[in-house]
Amino acid sequence: TPKGSCLESVKIAIDTGYRHIDGAFVYYNEHEVGQAIREKIAEGRIKREDIFYCGKLWNTCHPPELVRPTLEKTLKILQLDYVDLYIIELPMAFKPGDAIYPKDENGKIIYHETDLCATWEAMEACKDAGLAKSIGVSNFNRRQLEMILNKPGLKYKPVSNQVECHPYFTQPKLLEFCRQHDIVIVGYSPLGTSRDETWVNVSSPPLLKDPVLNAIGKKYNKTAAQVALRFSIQRGVVVIPKSFNPQRIRENFQIFDFSLTEKEMKEIEALNKNVRYVELLM
Ligand code: A2P
Repeated sequence: TPKGSCLESVKIAIDTGYRHIDGAFVYYNEHEVGQAIREKIAEGRIKREDIFYCGKLWNTCHPPELVRPTLEKTLKILQLDYVDLYIIELPMAFKPGDAIYPKDENGKIIYHETDLCATWEAMEACKDAGLAKSIGVSNFNRRQLEMILNKPGLKYKPVSNQVECHPYFTQPKLLEFCRQHDIVIVGYSPLGTSRDETWVNVSSPPLLKDPVLNAIGKKYNKTAAQVALRFSIQRGVVVIPKSFNPQRIRENFQIFDFSLTEKEMKEIEALNKNVRYVELLM
């Protein structure tokens, strides 16, 4: 994010009423997020406990002995005492070190063998130490979730799994599995991403141009973006829309004054293409 834009956007978001902030060390703006939260607390607009901050453990930090120091680094950058949720960002581990994407001489990512269950135990210890109120995962499939859920001596289940989820990628099977296990699905790219070709599969069409979403929006005097977000929350999926535009930040919050009918929900569900925008090819 351009320098400073995150600070301003988070402050506008908090003023608008947003409380859940999805962050990560690898977004390189946690210092701005922390500053925005602290400024809003100082203004008396919110208390720390009103905010729900989610931080993420990056791939180079999976070895269990790195987990707590990595979270402590995030807390230091945020200048906060705890995160509300700490999640394993991806199920695959990269070679530990300063490089976020460690590569060999051929430009290939250097992976690292770790035991996800051992990483999870270190996450549990962070919760016990009060550094994270809750712990979860991200980009985990059913098999990876089962590995944690079936771990002998499991102390805490993942409370959530953050995955791509929107009308073109509705994740029906994973959603059902997570429902059965009381794991909340947090849907990223709920608006179909920024379509940045460096990391987005742009061969899948733009979500917000979809005729069905636009037609339904017209009926309620809402935009396709608002319909997409409403669809997700109505099926119990948490949404984390991203915007650095004040008007769109506010627009994305105006989704609590209308509801979609069952027929409209079915129509939108039928848009599923089972194609990811975020392929995570690494
Ligand atoms: P901008 O920051 O200029 O608003 P996602 O949340 O799926 O990752 O999508 C983020 C992208 O969608 C960003 O490019 C953002 O751009 C854009 N965006 C966010 N809110 C809206 C909206 N209400 N209408 C159209 N585009 C939006």
